[in-house]
Amino acid sequence: MIEVVDQRDVQRKGGVYARFPQSYVVCRLLKSINARRVLDVTYGVGRFYRLCRDGIELLVASDPVKWEWVVAPDTFYQLTVWQLYDRVKRGDIVVPRVDVLVCDPPRWNTSVSYNRRSPYNFIIGTPSLIIDYSVKLANVLNVKHLLLHYNRILNIGKPVHVIEFHWFARYLNTEGKNKSYYILYDVSSIDEQQSIEPTFGTLYT
Ligand SMILES: C[S@@+](CC[C@H](N)C(=O)[O-])C[C@H]1O[C@@H](n2cnc3c(N)ncnc32)[C@H](O)[C@@H]1O
Repeated sequence: MIEVVDQRDVQRKGGVYARFPQSYVVCRLLKSINARRVLDVTYGVGRFYRLCRDGIELLVASDPVKWEWVVAPDTFYQLTVWQLYDRVKRGDIVVPRVDVLVCDPPRWNTSVSYNRRSPYNFIIGTPSLIIDYSVKLANVLNVKHLLLHYNRILNIGKPVHVIEFHWFARYLNTEGKNKSYYILYDVSSIDEQQSIEPTFGTLYT
């Protein structure tokens, strides 16, 4: 099922809803599967959880950059998703049981520009590689659900709930670029070796 949510409708609710409309969408999806234990591999500042942190019993986060958090996680690993995957596989990191793995890769939206010289740009990886490793990680951790925020619906599992999110576009040339998808997948039948992009054996060592 695809549900359409318009940012302006969320913002009309005022207060924190107006400031964190994405959190409204994410919290709604987490609630739909009663997910109370979460692993977010592209944690950022944690704005996804601003409206439902109280309902989350365990919030495990990882990100190669430690930003200034809006919401603090319970545990944080300063790692890329493939580093985390590798450490989990080797048994160096034991992630407690979680209900859902969340992935919100950077850079797929061309209107977002990053400072070329920023250390941030030295973090290698494409969105598809980040998504690929998120699926692999969900698989080794035996996590049934993966929540992906992306510009299209990928074939990485069975979509169980999709929210098409529309935001306000000031200019007409942004037509079609002002929407994204929050897709809740069931990835329980996905093979760990399946890739959406060819990967390199040495990348995460
Ligand atoms: C779009 S932001 C996530 C925002 C987040 N959902 C929030 O609510 O604040 C993407 C994040 O991915 C992180 N990132 C960049 N390269 C990565 C990688 N290789 N593995 C995991 N995360 C990565 C960035 O540091 C950034 O925080």
